[in-house]
Amino acid sequence: MALREIIVVPDPRLKQASEPVQAVDDELRALMDDMLETMYAAPGIGLAAIQVAVPKRVIVMDLAREGEEPQPRYFVNPEILWASEETAPYEEGCLSVPEIYDEVERPARVKLRYLNYRGEQIEEDAEGLYAVCIQHEMDHLDGVLFIDHLSRLKREQAIKKVKKQAKAA
Ligand code: NI
Repeated sequence: MALREIIVVPDPRLKQASEPVQAVDDELRALMDDMLETMYAAPGIGLAAIQVAVPKRVIVMDLAREGEEPQPRYFVNPEILWASEETAPYEEGCLSVPEIYDEVERPARVKLRYLNYRGEQIEEDAEGLYAVCIQHEMDHLDGVLFIDHLSRLKREQAIKKVKKQAKAA
């Protein structure tokens, strides 16, 4: 396993749509292992492959709370089959938009289909933080960031702030 570099705004690769995965093989599992390690090191709770500059429809996630056993989850070619009309707000952040947090409103519950680490097809309902996180990460696969759900002014301020941080580092 190896740590990968996380790209941040305004890197144009974050705006690109990712390609479906053809096969869940050892090469893809090696990518998922690297992504999980990179996410834990950041630290974060979700990471899409494009955030390590790989344009594939792959996501890793771990929503375990501090002190709990790790619960790594892997999503290949995820699809949303259904989303509730009811929405819920959540204060989101993103490893590609460091140190910016703002409230985004999304469907409160979704039904998902994806392939797991072993390439098995799973259908699952998600709610709460799981629903927030999977929708946030799936946006990345289509080149959408959480700040794209905010006003233009807030989005521009966020990008300016991240650029400033990068210069100061
Ligand atoms: Ni993100």
